[in-house]
Amino acid sequence: MELSGARVLVAGATGALGGALARGLHGAGARVALTGRDAGRLRALADELGGAPTATADVVDVAAVRAAVEAGVTALGGLDAVVVAWGVVAFGPAAEADDAVTEELFAVNTLAPMSLVRAALPHLPDGGAVVLLSAVVADAPTLQMAEYSASKAALSAWAGVLRREVRARGVGVLDVRPPHIDTGLVDRALAGRPPRLPPGHDPEELVGAVLEALRQGSREVVLDPRAGQLVHR
Ligand SMILES: NC(=O)c1ccc[n+]([C@@H]2O[C@H](COP(=O)([O-])OP(=O)(O)OC[C@H]3O[C@@H](n4cnc5c(N)ncnc54)[C@H](OP(=O)(O)O)[C@@H]3O)[C@@H](O)[C@H]2O)c1
Repeated sequence: MELSGARVLVAGATGALGGALARGLHGAGARVALTGRDAGRLRALADELGGAPTATADVVDVAAVRAAVEAGVTALGGLDAVVVAWGVVAFGPAAEADDAVTEELFAVNTLAPMSLVRAALPHLPDGGAVVLLSAVVADAPTLQMAEYSASKAALSAWAGVLRREVRARGVGVLDVRPPHIDTGLVDRALAGRPPRLPPGHDPEELVGAVLEALRQGSREVVLDPRAGQLVHR
């Protein structure tokens, strides 16, 4: 994908990685539209990015998610890619997980990304791309993170099937499964306290890997454990 001039909807743009990806895409010459649930923070980022169009949506409201996609398409005059950076985490033993917290994890991490991508797909052209932020725990389910791991593994499994189904249309699906990144996500957990985590990677490392993956049409961004860095392939 040629990023310069590409029309990209970034969902979860008020988040640390969503914001960093929106800035990175903007810096690479893409035209971005932003969604988030906090209108004020969304507007501040939009102003920073030269007046990018915005639409507010809480992900539990599927109609609002669909409307945000349509608003982005209208504002940008079409859509070449969509980046989904919504996410929440929770910690604690699986046997003690709260049902409401588990529902929110799956709503935000799994079901809402599926809804948004389904709404965006009819607009994506040959050469278009879907970018989903899953997590390393999709490959390595982690103690004290059973529900988070399951929500991300489900998203990653869905992305893998979607990729095969839309390949004939020329639409790529990039499954980003990062390790711990220094964004403060773990301090905003819906429940519980984080276990001991390895040192976090720099968000800019993730942005660089995702942008290069988009340029190359890669399928995933993951940690290369030997190199200790994110790679796309
Ligand atoms: N940071 C890491 O270590 C790491 C590692 C692997 C994968 N990831 C994944 O990367 C993605 C981004 O993470 P991050 O570190 O950037 O976290 P973040 O800064 O907390 O961003 C999360 C985003 O999700 C949004 N969100 C949460 N619940 C929502 C809801 N009900 N409706 C609408 N938006 C909602 C937040 O909106 P508000 O701004 O309004 O709260 C925010 O924009 C997540 O999917 C995360 O699981 C992160």
